[in-house]
Amino acid sequence: MELSRAMSISSTPTPREGLEPNYKEHSHTWAAEGGLHRVLCMQGGDDDGSYAKNSEAPASAITLCKPLLLTAIQSLKLFKEEGIKDSIRIADLGCATGYNTLATIDMVVESLRRRYIQECGFEPEFEAFFSDLPSNDFNSLFRSLPAAATLSSDGNAKPRRYYAAGVPGSFYDRLFPKRKLHVAVSLSALHWLSKIPDAVLDKRSPAWNKGRAWIDGAKREVVEAYAKQSEEDLDNFLRCRKEEIVQGGMLFMVMGGRPGSEQQLENQLGDPDSRAKHPFATSMDEAWQDLLNQGLINEETRDGFNIPAYMRSMEEVERAIKRCGGFELQLMEYQRIMEHSEEKHKEWIRDPVSYGRAKANLVRATLRPIVEAHLGPYLSQDLFNCFEKRVSSDTTLLHKTCFYGVIVACAIRN
Ligand SMILES: C[S@@+](CC[C@H](N)C(=O)[O-])C[C@H]1O[C@@H](n2cnc3c(N)ncnc32)[C@H](O)[C@@H]1O
Repeated sequence: MELSRAMSISSTPTPREGLEPNYKEHSHTWAAEGGLHRVLCMQGGDDDGSYAKNSEAPASAITLCKPLLLTAIQSLKLFKEEGIKDSIRIADLGCATGYNTLATIDMVVESLRRRYIQECGFEPEFEAFFSDLPSNDFNSLFRSLPAAATLSSDGNAKPRRYYAAGVPGSFYDRLFPKRKLHVAVSLSALHWLSKIPDAVLDKRSPAWNKGRAWIDGAKREVVEAYAKQSEEDLDNFLRCRKEEIVQGGMLFMVMGGRPGSEQQLENQLGDPDSRAKHPFATSMDEAWQDLLNQGLINEETRDGFNIPAYMRSMEEVERAIKRCGGFELQLMEYQRIMEHSEEKHKEWIRDPVSYGRAKANLVRATLRPIVEAHLGPYLSQDLFNCFEKRVSSDTTLLHKTCFYGVIVACAIRN
């Protein structure tokens, strides 16, 4: 199904009397095997509801992890022979589009380039592979690439010192030939699962997640179904990277996560304040319920939607790396990221309505493509409007602090 990416979020959907396509047309086709990968992506473009304009939390994750990534690159054994006759190849898996995407590759290329010049006296060629699901807005990404160093005549702009290519596909499958990559990074992406676990959408299953859009706070069976899917997915991810990364190459991952097994699986977000404010949790469930109460959807449609994301614990990630073999784990840390800056907080206290709008834009940026695949464009707009109203009307939220937990892990292919 083609998603209406071009539609501006600020545009009012056309009145629908008799014109709106039946939402049932949309439901249940995308959630089936392989369907999610046709629709999942961050919202493209650069309007207020785009990922490019709503990636403050992943940007904070990058800032927070930058010293760890730079240290990991500093301790990487340089590929001297290959560097002379061949290129150094770096992949960003789940790259999305926007400032973060370019900053990540730039950081890796620049620090490797400096090391080669200082330690080996030559500068190898670099190839950067921007990889994401086919529905990612690769056009915006390619348009935003700086001019190549060889072409740049603008003394002010920082030139691009790598050859760039896009690689469409799921990182849960093979994306590259064997022993192709020297460095693979995946930032704020691996908490997205390959699919919604079947059981949580199945009315007859004890894991049916009735009345909830996500796993946080759900019953044990739901949580177990998510955990099983997450385990399968991470195993596939690691098995593929084991083939693709050269010996001595590096895999650096940052993903939404939980600190450890002492924090139960159903408590995905760490604390009640984060739960209250997290865009996937309470207000999202309330917004779906509002659509139902207004008679715009039925229960089947509400319960046919679940957010395919899971926050792994450090133990779960470590166990998967050990199970896969072929990697030596060099670093594993849990970090907490504050939802937003102090200035933003002050701005929102002054203008609570702008808080609701900002949160709704964040939700649009991350969920709009899959919500539209489920509901179609008009009801999706209704859902996001309900979400915005819910958030704007609860001013107590403004005085709570929300944290996102991330796991940082770095492994060397041995
Ligand atoms: C929150 S964005 C993070 C983007 C970027 N790395 C950053 O740090 O800002 C997550 C990205 O992961 C991508 N993604 C999710 N599941 C994926 C999969 N199975 N294969 C490849 N990319 C995936 C999404 O499409 C999205 O672009």
